[in-house]
Amino acid sequence: MGKMTVRDIDLKNKKVIIRADFNVPLEGDKITDDIRIRAALPTIKYVLESGAAKVILMSHLGRPSGKGFEAAFSLAPVAKRLGELLGQPVKLLNDCVGDTVKAGVLGASEKVILLENLRFHKAEEKNDPAFAKELASLADIYVNDAFGTAHRAHASTAGIAAYLPAVSGFLIEKELQYLGQAVNNPERPFVVILGGAKVSDKILLIENLLKKADAILIGGGMAYTFLKSQGINIGDSKLEKDKIGLAGELLEKAKKAGVRIELSQDFVIVPNFESNDAKISDVIPDGFQALDIGPKTRARFKEILSTARTVVWNGPLGVFERDAFEVGTKDIAVYLAGLTGKGVKTIIGGGDSAAAVSKFGLDDKMTHISTGGGASLEFLEGKELPGVVALNDKKSSGGCGCGCR
Ligand code: 3PG
Repeated sequence: MGKMTVRDIDLKNKKVIIRADFNVPLEGDKITDDIRIRAALPTIKYVLESGAAKVILMSHLGRPSGKGFEAAFSLAPVAKRLGELLGQPVKLLNDCVGDTVKAGVLGASEKVILLENLRFHKAEEKNDPAFAKELASLADIYVNDAFGTAHRAHASTAGIAAYLPAVSGFLIEKELQYLGQAVNNPERPFVVILGGAKVSDKILLIENLLKKADAILIGGGMAYTFLKSQGINIGDSKLEKDKIGLAGELLEKAKKAGVRIELSQDFVIVPNFESNDAKISDVIPDGFQALDIGPKTRARFKEILSTARTVVWNGPLGVFERDAFEVGTKDIAVYLAGLTGKGVKTIIGGGDSAAAVSKFGLDDKMTHISTGGGASLEFLEGKELPGVVALNDKKSSGGCGCGCR
């Protein structure tokens, strides 16, 4: 049936409260990547163009203590950037609940209002009903467009939906469409690339993808625990000792399910993590550790990818933040960009993989780059996202008494 979206509800003259994910990276008060702000624009603009009386935006930023205002976590830089991107002033209030905020919303001459960081209140993460009701009291309609925070059951992402008509914005709709299509109804062959530091972060993901993918290519830090489970020497490379058995079991499960798994077969090795004195090697001798995949692995991965019609990528294949170990991740990212041009669906999970694609300037060369790290991971694991579950279901016909058309 699906969830109602902003398209399904009359917004005219309504006060609309939108939960966005403006949890952007900051250096001081400088935003170093504004993709999450830009990703929220289509919904904000649509609500404004639909004649809403007020747009009240709310978000968290970082992980403050929950004991009131902390300047380092203020949304002030976001208000400024959002105003520039919208081309209209954004009024930042100094809190998100309370009488001053209520008066601020009613009295503001600006149409777009941003509440201060929700996580200045512990009640937000506790999903406190009284706090959720306070937030709801500011508006007539609730829109959730914070895909990056949809895996959290917080007052602003879940609790508030009990008190207002609750619909999704375009970003959540788009993320669910791309990620959902890729894992639930992929055009085949469906190839998954997995990397990142730890096997333990990806166990549920691998288990779910074993039911869906045709092939899984494993690189990055997590590959070494898998290699170890096969009796391959990994020198001093990253190892989760307590996960060796589980890694072996996952490989067995894959075999039974007929899912091809490819592990890295050559490496970029260094004598210690700080060293940039890198060598390419088919083996990882004792006294060395691997920080990237080697050329044979890259060639093998690309050969398998060349047959794919759908690719999902979660986790970098090496320590891409350092130029000496970015080659594996970059080469595969460039290859995927080429596949996108040939009509292959290339879906990048958020977080580090998105940061890597951005480092290589390929943001506009993929079918979809998720704005959610944890949220896209949980979705791909097959979990329901509380921020989506809480929204109103689409009605098949007729009115539903909640303000929808
Ligand atoms: C994220 O950046 O993944 C989201 O904004 C959620 O943030 P959190 O992990 O602090 O809840």
